[in-house]
Amino acid sequence: MPNFSTSIKNLHFDFPVFNASGILGATEGEIKRVLESDAGAVVIKSVTLEKRPGNSGIRFYWEDIGSINSMGLPNQGVDYYCSLAERLTKYNKPVILSIAGFKKDDYKKLIVKADKVPFSAIEVNLSCPNIEGKGIFAYDFNTMFRLLNALRKKTKKTLGVKLPPYTQREQIKEVVANFRKIGIDFITTMNTFPLGTFIDWKKESMRINPNMGIGGLAGNAVKPIALSQVILFRYFSEGKLPVIAVGGISSAQDIYEFILAGASAVQIGTALLKKGTNIFTQLKRDLRGLLMEKKVKKLSDKVGRLKFLS
Ligand code: DHB
Repeated sequence: MPNFSTSIKNLHFDFPVFNASGILGATEGEIKRVLESDAGAVVIKSVTLEKRPGNSGIRFYWEDIGSINSMGLPNQGVDYYCSLAERLTKYNKPVILSIAGFKKDDYKKLIVKADKVPFSAIEVNLSCPNIEGKGIFAYDFNTMFRLLNALRKKTKKTLGVKLPPYTQREQIKEVVANFRKIGIDFITTMNTFPLGTFIDWKKESMRINPNMGIGGLAGNAVKPIALSQVILFRYFSEGKLPVIAVGGISSAQDIYEFILAGASAVQIGTALLKKGTNIFTQLKRDLRGLLMEKKVKKLSDKVGRLKFLS
């Protein structure tokens, strides 16, 4: 029987496949559903200081090629999730809290609160595309590096950063160099492609309501982009900055590709929303079959083992 386990610092994944932030991690019931499934961990939906209803109207739409969303950070507020942390330890699976702010000070307050309770790790979301009039922090390098330096000083917990897609190799190189200096423990790449849309040609209208119908693009359409982010983060960090991959993963083959690209774990977003938590059982069964067919005994032996053509 193949061994699936991987780890990033204190995060031990018996099966390194779990939900992407924002999918099924917003209430105690949803978080428990993920933890009680075959998922190897849970990521809690990006939390803000105050409770938020999120954007109004239709906020999510999907087709086979991919999905778009403009949720607007609906969540119960950080205190709600902090009050759950102790109860969630009984599942013995990593519980990762994603935090999101509107200004730097928000992140500092959030991290102080999250540091006090037994979450396994904190994922700093610097890539939410759906806040009207606010830029994406992770595209403003000076602000991002200064902020992360300050956050790193406030917690000894495993600290990761959720990043948006970058379009140039040099950007990834610069992010890697600075994150290594700051002491970031892992990155999660990639968040949605920030500007995506679908149109209903019959109604001659957009498919979702907020932000002119334009939101974060996810699912199958972004898989090639996500793969190249993972490969380049692995390359520029020489494997020293662990990567959690997300973006268009829906099958065991997809998981295997992202592991070869350099991911230590993967998250499932759009496909989880479409299929529910049974997808983890199916992925586990299919990945077992794939590894047995390829005679791979340990999945972790394959992290970053992609062959480049000469
Ligand atoms: C939302 C979307 C994101 O991609 C993200 O990283 C955080 C929040 C949202 O619209 O709720």
